[in-house]
Amino acid sequence: MVAFATFSITWGCTPKAVPVIHDRVVPVAANTGAAPVTIRPDIEKGKILFNNRCGRCHALPDPAAYSETRWNFILERMIPRARMDTAEGVHVKAFILKGIQQ
Ligand code: HEC
Repeated sequence: MVAFATFSITWGCTPKAVPVIHDRVVPVAANTGAAPVTIRPDIEKGKILFNNRCGRCHALPDPAAYSETRWNFILERMIPRARMDTAEGVHVKAFILKGIQQ
């Protein structure tokens, strides 16, 4: 503690020059493997996911029962509930929206 106080007195109040940065290493963002990827909607995968995951909490809904706008709203809530990742969500949505058009 005494050493620290002495240090502060002798060094603490002397004006310090702004350090000059001679070279700077710009950190490169770590490669997390999360490169942007285009997810190609796969209706067959969507159908399987839908059948396996969307009927766990309630009866499997009829895709034709809701409009696309309504589905967008519903899926925003249900995809996380079904613990689907982004890609799975895209597939399920493609499957459901195809069902509307039939
Ligand atoms: C963890 C349980 C759970 C899972 C999994 C789940 N849901 Fe639901 N779902 C609910 C609950 C609870 C409701 C009642 C409404 C609410 O609370 O939002 C609901 C309501 C709905 C409705 C009615 C919405 C409305 O506006 O009338 C639809 C359609 C639906 N879910 C579709 C799906 C689809 C599609 C999936 C798969 C992607 C899914 N759900 C997965 C729990 C779940």
